[in-house]
Amino acid sequence: MNIKQITPYQILDSRGEPTLMVRMVSDSGNSAEFAVPAGASRGANEAAEKRDGGTDYSGKGVSSCIEIITNIIAPKFIGYPLSQQDDFDGLLIALDGSEKKANLGGNTLLGLSGAYLKLSAVENEKPLWQYIAEANQTTPEFPRLFANIVGGGKHAPGLDIQEYMVVPATNTPTEAIKVIYNVYHTIQKVMQNLYGPSAKLVGDEGGLAPIGTNTEVILEAFSQLNAKMESKFDIAIDAAANTFYKDGIYTIENQQLHASDLLKLYESWDAKFPIFSIEDPFAENDVEGIEILKTLPKPEKPFLIIADDYTVTNKDKIEELQKAELFDGVIIKPNQVGTITETFEAIKAARASKAKVIISHRSGETNDNFIVDLAYGVGAMGMKLGAPMRGERVAKYNRLLEIQADLDANQSNVANAEQVVNSAPPMTERSARPVPNLSVPPAPSATATTSTPVVSPIPSPVSNNPMSLPQSPPTAPPPPPSVPTTPIPPTQGPQLSP
Ligand code: PGA
Ligand code: ZN
Repeated sequence: MNIKQITPYQILDSRGEPTLMVRMVSDSGNSAEFAVPAGASRGANEAAEKRDGGTDYSGKGVSSCIEIITNIIAPKFIGYPLSQQDDFDGLLIALDGSEKKANLGGNTLLGLSGAYLKLSAVENEKPLWQYIAEANQTTPEFPRLFANIVGGGKHAPGLDIQEYMVVPATNTPTEAIKVIYNVYHTIQKVMQNLYGPSAKLVGDEGGLAPIGTNTEVILEAFSQLNAKMESKFDIAIDAAANTFYKDGIYTIENQQLHASDLLKLYESWDAKFPIFSIEDPFAENDVEGIEILKTLPKPEKPFLIIADDYTVTNKDKIEELQKAELFDGVIIKPNQVGTITETFEAIKAARASKAKVIISHRSGETNDNFIVDLAYGVGAMGMKLGAPMRGERVAKYNRLLEIQADLDANQSNVANAEQVVNSAPPMTERSARPVPNLSVPPAPSATATTSTPVVSPIPSPVSNNPMSLPQSPPTAPPPPPSVPTTPIPPTQGPQLSP
């Protein structure tokens, strides 16, 4: 099958800013669409984003991308065969010809590359994740979810750190999402008691954006809640340190720190509230920070170090930086590099360097849930998908649930078919009609042992004590909160009650 038509158009993203949608139609009449996301805390080496400039849409319109597709790209690719992703992307990259895709725009190329991938999957009559898995020779597996609970940095006012996330221990979507739901709504109640109505505000990724809080309050609330929940989670941070770094100094929560002192601050948080991972702990151009990362003990680091702005989904950057195995995990965002093929290459490079793969959304998202099929298809260790709040984030949660429902339905179809076979009379006594071949996709390991959900129901509203968490349900064992109480100096925030 070949490309019959390419229709680019401008849509709005979750910040209400323009972005590019590309619809591609095949000559068999199938079609697919890809919407390009946009970042706010971008690494310096990301693929260039083409915007119109001028006054319309504050200069952020993408009609220049649409013109490029209509006038330059579409005429060359009408009639081009599908299912040849490497070649298609290679031609796009060659047409652009620049190092950072500044001529045609990384956003222009990703819209085309993504629509081509999706349409190829449709033409091959495969779910997108399966098509991706076959292309990469990977085993599909649900990722652990890195869910943003509280936001700051460039995504929300009030906090210097960009993201405070929870990572449920289970990777089964129905169970993980229940944990995330409980944490999000309980922490919102705690924040509301501490800071009033501002706890109802949310940042760009749907994370809570209370005004007047600080890191220790948030981490203590997470830790206390974790101790009370039956289904456990890890705590992850995206510092996005570029955003609070200037001239060798990090300005964070009223302190001015060099990289070595910032590491001590991270370590002090970790000592009180064990942290699973910290993303972009130092600014990407801070040489002192890179030197510190080199000296961290391996493999026994205090927490996993995750690269985002450092590596920008670029195979060469990943290979270069990972010679010293600086990072334990690498964030993958297709629009940082601009094509699907290069995204696959970055994933391979990360794995080859022993880093865990974490697929990620951007802060400016759309309802396109491509990243879910990507994360499941390549069997990524993790996926960042924001909070379970706001349509464009919820679209990702719901796609995970859809994939799980499809897999579960296929499994029960197989079970039913086997039952029919076993209870049927012997072959000689019945017509030799073959049992339907249900072509079952590989089941994710977590769903193979489906257990009764163990997450506690949403607790009752919090008590008058501002930091005391809602009581566990009767089924949950009541372990005493083991989180050390952290006296917060009055200038930094309210003191936590024991
Ligand atoms: P961005 O940030 O999408 O706003 O660039 C996300 C991140 O830093 O992980
Ligand atoms: Zn990041």
